[in-house]
Formats: sequence, C-alpha cells, structure tokens
Amino acid sequence: MLRVKKVTQLPFIKSIFILVIALFATVNFSDNGKALQLAQLSDGFNPEQKYMASCFACHSTGAAGAPKVGDGMAVEWGPRLEKGLDAMVANTVNGLNTMPAKGLCFDCTDDDLRAIVEYMIETSQ
Ligand code: HEC
Repeated sequence: MLRVKKVTQLPFIKSIFILVIALFATVNFSDNGKALQLAQLSDGFNPEQKYMASCFACHSTGAAGAPKVGDGMAVEWGPRLEKGLDAMVANTVNGLNTMPAKGLCFDCTDDDLRAIVEYMIETSQ
C-alpha cells in the first residue's frame, strides 16, 4: 500500500519542482533585459575569430559569388544593406542560394551571427 502511495505522489512532486525552477528563472531574468541579451552571445565570443574560422574561406575570396570582406569592399555590401541588417542576418541564419545556413558556424547563436555580419560590414568600408 505504502509503495503505491509513493508512486502516485511522484507527478505532484515533479510539478512543484518544475514550478520552483520556472519561478527561479523568471526572478533571475525578468528585470535584467540587457544582461539577458548579452548572455545570448556565446562565452568568450569574438566576431573576428569566428569570422576567420567560419566565413573567411568564402568571404575573403568571393568564392561561389560571396560578397567580399575587407578594405574597399563597401561596393559589395551596399546593395545588400538596402534590404536591412535584420534581413541579412536572417539570410545568414537560414542560408541564401550557395551561402550555407549559419555560414557553417553551427555553434554560433543568431546573435553571434549578427555580430559577425556587423563585423564584416564594418571592415568593408
Ligand atoms: C561556402 C561559402 C560560404 C561560407 C562558409 C559563408 N558564406 Fe556568406 N555568403 C556566401 C555566398 C555565396 C553568398 C551570396 C549569396 C547570394 O546572394 O546568392 C553569401 C552571402 C552572405 C551575406 C549576405 C546575405 C544577404 O542577405 O545578402 C552575409 C551577411 C553572409 N554571407 C554572412 C556570412 C557569415 C557571417 C558567415 C560565417 C559565419 C558566412 N557568410 C559564411 C558564401 C559563404
């Protein structure tokens, strides 16, 4: 009898546990939007390093028609910038024609990718 009782109580205990975790998460993050935003960049993230590791192979050479990155390359980015940064980041996340999804950086968050795209545009003036 005792054994049966224990088993039936388990889902109840489980839901209390989940509730406590949910409350903890809300209290922790609700009043600190900025910290939450920063936290979405991966630990130790450096846009230049990630660019070199994932994007440089295509974007330094223009392989497969990739817009080139570097000094004097603003002309490659001007027409693309007209659609807005958000659209460009979305194309980076989802892929665009021969541009592979996430630019092959599979451990990058969407915010990491946005920071790399900003880095690419800034270094192509
Ligand atoms: C395999 C080659 C390749 C790699 C690796 C690659 N790209 Fe690209 N990328 C392309 C090509 C090709 C295009 C042009 C696509 C088109 O317009 O048809 C492009 C276009 C883009 C654009 C412009 C999108 C737009 O909306 O016009 C951005 C931004 C971009 N890449 C970011 C990145 C980032 C960030 C990385 C690395 C995380 C990366 N790419 C890695 C080939 C690559």
